Amino acid sequence: MEKNIEHSHFLPYNLRSIAPTVQKGKGIYLYDSSGKRYIDGSSGPVVCNIGHGVKEIGEAYAAQAEKVAYVFRSQFTNEPVEKLAALIAEMAPKDLDRVFFVSSGSEGTEMAAKIARQYYLERNELRKELIISRWLSYHGITMGALSMSGHVLRRKNFVTSLLPYPKINAPYCYRCPENSEYPACKLACAHRLRETIQMIGEEYISAFIAEPVVGAAGGAITPPAEYYTIIREICDEFDILFIADEVMTGFGRTGLNFGIENWDVTPDMIVFAKGASAGYYPLAGVVISEKIYRVLRDGKKGIFAPGHTYSGTPMAGAVGVKVLEYMQKNNLIANVNQLKGYLLEQLKTLGRHTIVGDIRGKGFLLGIEFVKDQKTREPFDFEESGYIANLIAQKAFENGLIIYPGTGTVNGHHGDHILIAPPFIIKKEQIDEMISLLNQSIKEAEAQLE
Ligand SMILES: Cc1ncc(COP(=O)(O)O)c(C=O)c1O
Repeated sequence: MEKNIEHSHFLPYNLRSIAPTVQKGKGIYLYDSSGKRYIDGSSGPVVCNIGHGVKEIGEAYAAQAEKVAYVFRSQFTNEPVEKLAALIAEMAPKDLDRVFFVSSGSEGTEMAAKIARQYYLERNELRKELIISRWLSYHGITMGALSMSGHVLRRKNFVTSLLPYPKINAPYCYRCPENSEYPACKLACAHRLRETIQMIGEEYISAFIAEPVVGAAGGAITPPAEYYTIIREICDEFDILFIADEVMTGFGRTGLNFGIENWDVTPDMIVFAKGASAGYYPLAGVVISEKIYRVLRDGKKGIFAPGHTYSGTPMAGAVGVKVLEYMQKNNLIANVNQLKGYLLEQLKTLGRHTIVGDIRGKGFLLGIEFVKDQKTREPFDFEESGYIANLIAQKAFENGLIIYPGTGTVNGHHGDHILIAPPFIIKKEQIDEMISLLNQSIKEAEAQLE
């Protein structure tokens, strides 16, 4: 039976209307209580990489709950997290070999900031504490993570409570922050990092954090080939750690284990979440390099104290191990690579709609930016901003397709985009159906605009 909003005790996203009740999920589909079927075209908020309703994950979960569900990390280690950490270390590039577990992406980025802090304290670099990030970025909603985030609309209500972390512009080629064009720009946006560090003083800066492909704040903004090499060099030049926030891009989303590998660059830390458990359990963490690990281990006490009650529990470990094994057993990253070209090609056919401005991204993390004028790239007016992306997402939902809308794409206030990020198990004919539903939804939104 559908609930009335007045009779629900659960605080949802929209406080004025009640969303349909989900009944079950299977593969790329979700079904509500009326029996209506939805294609999960964005894997929720880019989470459900292996699809819904995978029986063996449930079985692993139940078996672990029966054996031992919880222990505290200062008292015990446990087999599932040991195994999961080893699997992740194996997947992570080069010497990123040690894993600290938390339960959400926000906890992960904050933990990376705390690890960076301890790393420099142990080295007697007492002032190195600031984290540089980028505008048009999202690193989480808790205060520390939000301080790193350059998502203007999500920061707006908390600005005076946030930490004064400096920001540089995003590598946003469709609207170049340097008013230039690639490659003539010579990657000026990356070189701004050097300028910012020099102006603030390297002795105050511990790390630079970036999403390899910008997710929620930028609709899959993807930097040019040389971008992260320059970032890496600048970080090394000033002894600043480079943190890759792979909460969305991790575990195969872009076609490689981690998104940053597309640029052939090794960060000092990787923050992961979402895809690590594909939504089957709250699981996130930070992978750190051997260099950082040794400094922490050989430091004053050899203790890393910050943590959470749910850091590295057997339950999280058991689910994470099963999800990663399932991905390997079913060659799910290979499926991303096999179909990523087709997905992008099909998405590009939607360029015929006059409100479609840019189509971009990597692997199965793709975005469409909407504009008022294709030629001038003028975004929709401020009052309409958010309206367009949300309107298309709403039409798509009515038509049985889930996509992930976002706003503030242009400058934090103006601009609309959607993310398309299907589960890795999607088949070619399901991509066709998804594109057809999206096409229909954009058409209906355009009609409503007129
Ligand atoms: C890149 C990135 N970092 C961090 C977060 C925060 O993760 P969580 O919502 O699990 O706290 C998100 C969430 O969307 C994200 O996309």
